[in-house]
Amino acid sequence: MTAIEKFQVSLEAAEAYEDLFVPGIFAEWAPLIVEATGVSPGQAVLDVACGTGIAARTAADVLGGSGTVVGTDLNESMLTVARRVRPDLTWQQADAQHLPYPDRSFDVVLCQMGLMFFDDRVAALSEMARVVTSDGKMGLVVPSKIENQPAYSRLTEIVADEAGPEGAALLSTYWSCGDADELTSMLNAAGLRVVTLYEHPGTASFASVDDLVKTEIEGSPLYSRITEQTYQRIRERARSALGEWETNGRLDAPLRGLVVCAGR
Ligand SMILES: C[S@@+](CC[C@H](N)C(=O)[O-])C[C@H]1O[C@@H](n2cnc3c(N)ncnc32)[C@H](O)[C@@H]1O
Repeated sequence: MTAIEKFQVSLEAAEAYEDLFVPGIFAEWAPLIVEATGVSPGQAVLDVACGTGIAARTAADVLGGSGTVVGTDLNESMLTVARRVRPDLTWQQADAQHLPYPDRSFDVVLCQMGLMFFDDRVAALSEMARVVTSDGKMGLVVPSKIENQPAYSRLTEIVADEAGPEGAALLSTYWSCGDADELTSMLNAAGLRVVTLYEHPGTASFASVDDLVKTEIEGSPLYSRITEQTYQRIRERARSALGEWETNGRLDAPLRGLVVCAGR
């Protein structure tokens, strides 16, 4: 199976991503990555692993019609939604590890909440370094490590208790790039240097704790390895462990992330 085949999701899943996850989690980070990289009118901007395009759209709003924005993702359904929402921008299927662009062709390269999913992260960062101009900027957002995630670490502890440490490890992809020192080493290995790096205290907003648990468990390989009873116990324990962040019928759980600007 090629990387492109592995990453396909249905159009319904991509629409749900745009309707639920972009407002609930991802929209908050787009102005931060755009600001960190100093996107300004006239520039050429590339958004790698753009999903349905929230960072690309935010950059395009700052460009105000002067400059170009290209969004790339492995997933054709994500790009279909991106095209529907912003038909005026360019959307192209591409693997972050093999970008189909000439050297030094973008002033700014953005990659928001994508790096964790790449098989070879240094290769992907090297590709981003290759396509950015010599005085251009590369922006990254990744979730912080699990130790810095008060809500998600409670869920991980419950899962480790109910499904064993191997079960909890299956939830770990999301947090796997969130150590600032390791991330800096990865960027350096790709020929990039950190210009600015800070941790932002973001929020994951869901209708309920059950919805957060559903997203994390059913969206991970753990789901196919646990019984319905184990899933039920995880749900019940999470309701009380994460209840402090649920108010007026909504859950606003802390989700910390690193915002990085790098240069060559
Ligand atoms: C959590 S989403 C983030 C999307 C978007 N940047 C945002 O902030 O909403 C991760 C995205 O990475 C994409 N992805 C995973 N591996 C990829 C790869 N090797 N090359 C390009 N995109 C990839 C997925 O298809 C998905 O759209």
